[in-house]
Amino acid sequence: MSGRFIVLDGIDGCGKSTQIRHLAKWLPNSGLMPATARLVCTCEPGGTLLGRSIRKLLLHNEADHIPSAKAELLLYAADRAQHVDTVISPAIRRGDWVLSDRFVGSTLAYQGYGRGLDRELITNLESIVTSGLEPDLTVLLMVPVAVSMQRRSGKQNDRIESEENAFFHRVADGFAALADQRSWCRLNAQSSIAQLSKELEQTLRQTLQ
Ligand code: TYD
Repeated sequence: MSGRFIVLDGIDGCGKSTQIRHLAKWLPNSGLMPATARLVCTCEPGGTLLGRSIRKLLLHNEADHIPSAKAELLLYAADRAQHVDTVISPAIRRGDWVLSDRFVGSTLAYQGYGRGLDRELITNLESIVTSGLEPDLTVLLMVPVAVSMQRRSGKQNDRIESEENAFFHRVADGFAALADQRSWCRLNAQSSIAQLSKELEQTLRQTLQ
């Protein structure tokens, strides 16, 4: 039996990482996964060894090594190609479950809607990179940009997190449009951590049982 593929996505500061940590503990004991399946928790960018090097190039770079918008797109695509080929697809073929912090939606939202790169080109790139692999469930955690900014204030922001307000508004609007186009599940990520965890558990039960 083939495994399942679940993705959490959203703007920076939406609480994905906290909820991934919760689901990583909850899912294996939830009764949803077959006894023989393992849970693989992973992320983009940086879900592979090569990807961790790419992540450094993308997010923590010297001022004179800043990638152009197109180079940035292709680095995220390279990270994802390695991730799909060496982690996600093999796990699903083994019958394991994969939980990923971000996937293709992030590229359309950040590089497409945020940077203004051609979205058709990004979608074509997506089909090369994923070879048609699609998540069984994508959950978009929605927070207003002001809340995301507030949650990140006082923290060390990486290159993308340091973008201006208007960029994050375009990214957030992009995520909302993608959720409509691709029938993703949306959850209000302004609720308490515990409430959001409960809603995620319910969503997974309804979708994957
Ligand atoms: P992430 O690891 O979620 O951020 P954090 O380190 O704060 O948990 O993602 C790193 C950044 O990369 C984030 O600002 C979003 C950006 N990103 C893109 O711009 N395009 C993409 O395709 C992906 C996967 C991430």
